[in-house]
Amino acid sequence: MNAPEETSGLSRRRFLTGAGVAAGAVITGAAIDGCATTSAPAAAVLPRVTLPPPVPGLPVRQHAWNATLHTDRYGNALPPRFDRLLFFDVKGGPTPAHARILEAGLRALEHRYPWGPGGLLITAGWGPHYFTDLLKRTSPVPPARALSDFEAPSIDHYDLCLHLACDDERRLGEAQVALLRGPEAITPALQWRETRTGFTGSGLPAAHQHVQGIPAGDPVPADAPLYMGFKSALKGNQATEDAVTIPSGPFREGTTMTVSYMTLSLENWYDNLDEAQRIARMYAPQMTVADQRAITTDAESDPNLIGQAIRRDGVIGHSQACARARRNGKAIILRRDFDTTDGGQAGLHFVALQRDIADFVTTRTAMNQAGAQLINPAITATTNNGINEFIFVLKRANYVLPSRPERAFPLLPGRAAALQQTS
Ligand code: HEM
Repeated sequence: MNAPEETSGLSRRRFLTGAGVAAGAVITGAAIDGCATTSAPAAAVLPRVTLPPPVPGLPVRQHAWNATLHTDRYGNALPPRFDRLLFFDVKGGPTPAHARILEAGLRALEHRYPWGPGGLLITAGWGPHYFTDLLKRTSPVPPARALSDFEAPSIDHYDLCLHLACDDERRLGEAQVALLRGPEAITPALQWRETRTGFTGSGLPAAHQHVQGIPAGDPVPADAPLYMGFKSALKGNQATEDAVTIPSGPFREGTTMTVSYMTLSLENWYDNLDEAQRIARMYAPQMTVADQRAITTDAESDPNLIGQAIRRDGVIGHSQACARARRNGKAIILRRDFDTTDGGQAGLHFVALQRDIADFVTTRTAMNQAGAQLINPAITATTNNGINEFIFVLKRANYVLPSRPERAFPLLPGRAAALQQTS
């Protein structure tokens, strides 16, 4: 991971303009505000770039990844094996020229790599700061916040988050270089602030287990797709892309995204719990080892038996608790999370898509099972309470993912006209 974290609007904006100038970016003196937080930053003068035509046939929904993904023998989508999250702030006040530069950079990648895990999948999401501070209008997504008594994440205030994913880690590096330094670099318009990296898929966590947070002795199973040893994101436990798509309004065909960074501390998980105890905490105490091995497409884990789990077993399952948030029997968030070794520490970048951020809040709140300890003191906020004991949320932020045609600087006046001319 790179780049400093700052939360105050003033210091953040000062840092940003200073960094832009230091990097020799295309930014005029007029763009250096440095004194007021209430007025919009002055517009930068940017070069007019050539805009490649859109690649024909790409889905209108940026988040329409599933049709391109490989599946296992039960039809569960297999996520791309490698991911990167790139965070940016807008340089100066946004103009239609900013939108052209970003759109040109994204289209260049789409021309170079086919849409899918064998090429490149990408989404562009915009955070509340872009809407409230730069466009001076209400944000379609609320700022993120802590969602349990045992977490105190710092909240990111980046304007833009690009999520890149594919099956080839090197290609993600190439794509990042193209965005930051290539002929179609987006950096005249956007200041790169941070990159987070990761992976998911059979064999990758075992190959990356010599990091902080994983005890000695190579405990991560050789074929596990995630550090905790179990497969996640079975199709019955995921919201569909349709279900998370915004149906109307300016963000029609878009969705919302939350991005959390959490570290993992798996000493107790692997050293002090046996497989049955891990299954109880990941799924439900009613689930046996044989039951778990027989799961194919849905690990709903008896959410209606959570009362029994609390009273009789004194242990709650993570999947069991989260499934309490289902609506009409269906999960309401679409998880696209992946493990990481950022900072030399085992962790997880939890990326989730949902129609409304409130659906994430509902699900994450269900994961707390806050009242359980009143019924059985063997359960606390973290002890015997799903996987809460093992995860530490350090950062969180919310974004809106517009439709593909609206992805570059959504709602910015003049953007549509600027994006119509390709030369
Ligand atoms: C290290 C972190 C995590 C791991 C390893 C993990 C793993 C799992 C696993 C194995 C399942 C069982 C169902 C399936 O196969 O998909 C599951 C279900 C689920 N998890 Fe997690 N999870 C983690 C964190 C989270 C977080 C932070 C949330 C946020 C709310 C979450 C939300 C869910 C939901 C919504 C379900 C499905 C519930 C349903 O079936 O309706 N998970 N998780």
